[in-house]
Amino acid sequence: MNPKLVPLIDSLPSTVPFVGPEALERKRNGLFRARLGANENGFGPAPSVIAAIQKHAAESWKYADPENFDLKHALASHLHVAPSNIVVGEGVDTLLGLAVRQYVSEGTPVVTSLGAYPTFNFHVAGFGGRLITVPYRDDREDLSALLDAVKRENAPLVYFSNPDNPMGTWWDADDVERFIDALPPTTMLILDEAYGETAPASSKPAIDISRSNVLRMRTFSKAYGLAGMRCGYAIGAQQQITAFDKIRNHFGMNKLTQIAALAALKDQDYLRQVVGKIIAARDRISAIAEANGLKAIPSATNFVTIDCGKDGAYALSVLNRLIERDVFVRKPMAPGLDRCIRVSVGLDAELDIFEQQLPLALQAAS
Ligand SMILES: Cc1ncc(COP(=O)(O)O)c(C=O)c1O
Repeated sequence: MNPKLVPLIDSLPSTVPFVGPEALERKRNGLFRARLGANENGFGPAPSVIAAIQKHAAESWKYADPENFDLKHALASHLHVAPSNIVVGEGVDTLLGLAVRQYVSEGTPVVTSLGAYPTFNFHVAGFGGRLITVPYRDDREDLSALLDAVKRENAPLVYFSNPDNPMGTWWDADDVERFIDALPPTTMLILDEAYGETAPASSKPAIDISRSNVLRMRTFSKAYGLAGMRCGYAIGAQQQITAFDKIRNHFGMNKLTQIAALAALKDQDYLRQVVGKIIAARDRISAIAEANGLKAIPSATNFVTIDCGKDGAYALSVLNRLIERDVFVRKPMAPGLDRCIRVSVGLDAELDIFEQQLPLALQAAS
């Protein structure tokens, strides 16, 4: 006799939404020469952030402040909201799980786009929600179809990422605002802005914390270059933010992560420089794609999704031929989007390798 799992957990497959590059390296028994698949920021954190981590490393014996007081206050003044409008957590991924837990129980309908960020779906499955997916249209999340699905299903939760992963496309603030205005007040929108810093200002609606049915999520993983530290935050109306405090892991944050995020937020000059480098790297990836006869989809993120021009099997073959050549990239999997591969920005030396290997991978792909 074994301890008995609750039926919901027993029924779930034990999958990992993303197989990490480390797992791939173990499997192929070799390291990648270009790590361009996980939408990380290879330009790294600011020197001021590294110095702050080094300065405080010896304090690791202390638990982190469970209220995230300093970071929350710094974020609040940066965003012109009150600290009570912000919850800090171990990355957007963790906050997504906490939000899903607040609005979803077994059988609850939850709306998202088919092929959108899979970690959200993973959390919905973990709480027994019923995912309702809407196909992309013209490589963008289809706002009017998402809204129709919300209304049809009377869904209490809808997820939308702007800009989006895996296509890198985005909507303008006016469109997002119209979507929010049309949402039933009983439906919570999770607006995932993980790539907000690399997107045009015109894509970001002004923060309006009087909207009790919008949670905006942001991260230090992308433009700030701190994916491994795990720090994200959600912005929303006070009552909705307070709900996170009822269930979050109060000692989940790492002390050095709090210090790193605080230092990163202070160094907006570095952020501006890095965003410039990300945009230049995006342009270079697009140029490499086009030099090989492929179409790069315009992106507002830290990656570029490249249309390989044929079907999903062909794009998968291109991806595998790149991986064989030590270039780690990923690809969208949903029908229609699966004709693409997705290449994250990186240092020039890594993009040089991508530039050398892409024509060879295309020649070898079938
Ligand atoms: C849309 C989106 N949301 C969230 C995340 C993860 O953010 P974090 O590192 O803060 O958990 C990613 C990372 O790829 C992403 O693409």
